[in-house]
Amino acid sequence: MNQLLQKYPQEIQTILAKYPADRKRSAVMPLLHLAQQEPGYITKQALQEIGEILEMPITDIDSIVGFYTLYHEQPGGRYHVQVCTDLPCALRGADEFLKQLCENIGIKVGETTPDGMVTIEEVKCLAGCHHAPMFQVQGDGDISYHEDQTVESAVELIAKLRDRKEAA
Ligand code: FES
Repeated sequence: MNQLLQKYPQEIQTILAKYPADRKRSAVMPLLHLAQQEPGYITKQALQEIGEILEMPITDIDSIVGFYTLYHEQPGGRYHVQVCTDLPCALRGADEFLKQLCENIGIKVGETTPDGMVTIEEVKCLAGCHHAPMFQVQGDGDISYHEDQTVESAVELIAKLRDRKEAA
């Protein structure tokens, strides 16, 4: 039984109605968004179920999930701090920035702080290349960009994010 169809019948119908029947693959992005809402990441089962709905190979859907920073492949914290280490940012010290940031926070890339608040991730270009080191923060349904960062400014921001625990 397709659990996504069971759980969101109306929402899925509304999404599919926006695309011609022979182009229903175009609905993959909104369906992924829908599937991610509750668990906070795209489960293997959701991948399979979206594949069934759209008659689309799972590997194609998986590659979309891997490409876009808005989709998460693993469970994570309330906030995803996504540091760009693509080449232009690397040339401006992004690798060392990320390394030192992780050391300061006490977690490795891809890990979540023990309070479940912040996951640090490494991502590709976020279109802020000339303002590296830079990262984006996703969480609470919002995205914010942080450019020209230092390790100190990033640690301070992460401390503030973790302080929001009470408001969760
Ligand atoms: S390469 Fe990092 S923002 Fe473009």
